[in-house]
Amino acid sequence: MRAMTYHGAHDVKIETVPDPTIEAPDDIILRVTATAICGSDLHLYRGKIPTVEHGDIFGHEFMGIVEETGSAVTAVQRGDRVVIPFVIACGDCFFCQNELYASCETTNTGRGAIVNKKAIPPPAALFGFSRLYGGIPGGQAELVRVPKANTGPFKVPGLLADEKVLFLSDILPTAWQAVLNTGIGPGSSIAIYGAGPVGLLSAACAKMQGAEQIFMVDHHDYRLAYAQRTYGVIPINFDDDDDPADTIIRQTAGSRGVDAVIDAVGFEAKGSTTETLLATLKLEGSSGKALRQCIAAVRRGGVVSVPGVYSGFIHGFLFGDAFDKGLTFKMGQTHVQRYLPELLGHIETGRLQPEAIITHRMSLEQVAEGYRIFDKKEEQCRKVILTPGSSDVPLTENLEVTPIPAL
Ligand SMILES: NC(=O)c1ccc[n+]([C@@H]2O[C@H](COP(=O)([O-])OP(=O)(O)OC[C@H]3O[C@@H](n4cnc5c(N)ncnc54)[C@H](O)[C@@H]3O)[C@@H](O)[C@H]2O)c1
Ligand SMILES: [Zn+2]
Ligand SMILES: [Zn+2]
Repeated sequence: MRAMTYHGAHDVKIETVPDPTIEAPDDIILRVTATAICGSDLHLYRGKIPTVEHGDIFGHEFMGIVEETGSAVTAVQRGDRVVIPFVIACGDCFFCQNELYASCETTNTGRGAIVNKKAIPPPAALFGFSRLYGGIPGGQAELVRVPKANTGPFKVPGLLADEKVLFLSDILPTAWQAVLNTGIGPGSSIAIYGAGPVGLLSAACAKMQGAEQIFMVDHHDYRLAYAQRTYGVIPINFDDDDDPADTIIRQTAGSRGVDAVIDAVGFEAKGSTTETLLATLKLEGSSGKALRQCIAAVRRGGVVSVPGVYSGFIHGFLFGDAFDKGLTFKMGQTHVQRYLPELLGHIETGRLQPEAIITHRMSLEQVAEGYRIFDKKEEQCRKVILTPGSSDVPLTENLEVTPIPAL
C-alpha cells in the first residue's frame, strides 16, 4: 500500500510499504477514504517527540470503510463506513468504565511521556504517535490496522460527506472537551490562545454554547481574520501587541478578566526566545508563554482549559498567581469516544460545520507538500485533508460557514 513515512525532522515521503494485517482477534483493517494532518503531527514532523523512527507512519485523524474484521469483532462489519477516534481504548478497564478513554490503561505498550512516573500505568495508545504511545502505525495511508475495534470505530451516516465527519476523529471532540471543561454558557466571556484548527473549532463550540465575548490570540493575521468573520472573535495579534492578556482584561467588565481561557497552543508556543532556546537545548520541557498569558487573562475563580499538548516541566509557571486567583485547570488528551454521538447530532443539524476550516484538499501522494504548507503556514493554510488515490485532486475553493444562531 501507499503510506506516508517519516525520515527525520521536516522530511516525510510517500512510499510503498507492506499492507497491515490482523494481529489480534478484535482488530480490523480499514481502507482509508480521508485523513488529515493535525497540529500534533507537526510536533512529530519537527522532530520534537522522542522514540520516532525512520519509516514510521503518522496520522491519527482518519476514516474509511471496514475491509476486514478479526474473529472477535462484533461492533462493525466489512463495508461499514466509520470514523476512528485517535485514542485507542479497550472499553473495559477502570478508566474506560469512567469514560476517561485517553487514560485507558491496557492499550499502550510504551511508557507514555510522564516524567515522574513511578508505578503508574501509561495512558492510552495513540495512532501514529511514537513508541511512547504504543508505536501503532497511523492512518495517513491507504490501509490501517485498527486495534480495539469493538470500542473505537464510530459508524457515520452515508448522507454526510467525509469532510463533514472526518474531524470527529480528533479536533472537533478536542475543541468540544476544551470548551466543556471551561464551563462557559450563554453570556460568558472567553479567550482562546492559538488560532489553529483546535483554536478555531473551540471558537465554533464556544459560540454554540452562547459565549458573548470571544477573544482570540495568534500571530497569523489570516487565521485571526477568518475567526473574526466566521465566529465573531475579537482578534489580537501578539506580534503587534506584546501583552494580549492586558488588552483582553481592559475590555472585560470591571477589568476582571475573562471567565475562562483555552490554551490551544501547547509546548511549542512562540513569543519567548529564551524558552524556545532552552526547550531546544532540552533544559526546559515546554515554552510557558501561552500558559502564562492564559493565567494572566482569566478572572479570579476562572478556568484555564488546556487542549494544547505539553511535556515535562516549565520553570516560568506562575503557580502563585494561579493560587491567588483561585483558578481551576483542566487539560489532557481528549476522551474522544465519549463525545461522538452528541457531536454527530450537531453536525447533522448544521449547528457545527467543522469542514469549513479546510483550506487544502490534496491527494495522499502530495503528503510531503501538505506537511510543509501546514507547518510553514503557507497559502493561508488552516487545515489539510488528504485522500488516497490519484495525485491530481484539484484544490477546491475555501468553504465559508453559514451563520447559525447560538443555542
Ligand atoms: N488534547 C488533545 O487531545 C489534542 C488534540 C489535537 C491537538 N492537540 C494540540 O493542540 C495544539 C493546537 O493544535 P492545532 O492543530 O490547532 O495546531 P497549529 O500548530 O496549527 O496551531 C497552533 C497555533 O498557535 C499559534 N501560536 C503559537 N504561539 C502562540 C502564542 N504564544 N500565543 C498564541 N498563539 C500562538 C500558532 O501561530 C498557530 O496558529 C497542539 O499543541 C496540538 O498538539 C491536542
Ligand atoms: Zn491530533
Ligand atoms: Zn481501557
